[in-house]
Amino acid sequence: MKNLVVIYWSGTGNTEAMAEWIMEGAQNRNANVRLLNVGDATLEDVSMADGIAFGCPSMGSEVLEESEMEPFIESISKVVNGKNMILFGSYGWGNGEWMTDWQDRMEGYGAKVILDGLIINNDADREGIARCKELGELLSKA
Ligand SMILES: Cc1cc2nc3c(=O)[nH]c(=O)nc-3n(C[C@H](O)[C@H](O)[C@H](O)COP(=O)(O)O)c2cc1C
Repeated sequence: MKNLVVIYWSGTGNTEAMAEWIMEGAQNRNANVRLLNVGDATLEDVSMADGIAFGCPSMGSEVLEESEMEPFIESISKVVNGKNMILFGSYGWGNGEWMTDWQDRMEGYGAKVILDGLIINNDADREGIARCKELGELLSKA
């Protein structure tokens, strides 16, 4: 059984909801999944997992949330080499630049990002929910 962790930051709940559907998708494939707000996550949660899903909305001007998520992502740079990973997050009005930058960064750390980061405009509709679940299933199979 795969041990997965979903670590997210969310201000108004859209990315948190995505995190929950991703967890559900992975659990449907019998993965053991922990869901953590980034404020409760440690380096060990990342280094011990078989696969990691990171979620953060587009904040600032097309960047990660700066007080918690940005420093956490910086702190894991040395422990994600070779790790299966998915990235996800909600956005408002931008073009998704924060996600492509984030994915490049994680690949630069050596992570195996198994599918392009999933971005959803504001809150997920039925199709968005299905895509979240699918992503969780994929991570549990990777
Ligand atoms: C301070 C702030 C900065 C934001 N900057 C961007 C941005 O640069 N690009 C964008 O597409 N959306 C931006 N947004 C919109 C959020 O990404 C969007 O509301 C998202 O759904 C929030 O997700 P959450 O509910 O998980 O917090 C910003 C929102 C806030 C509050």
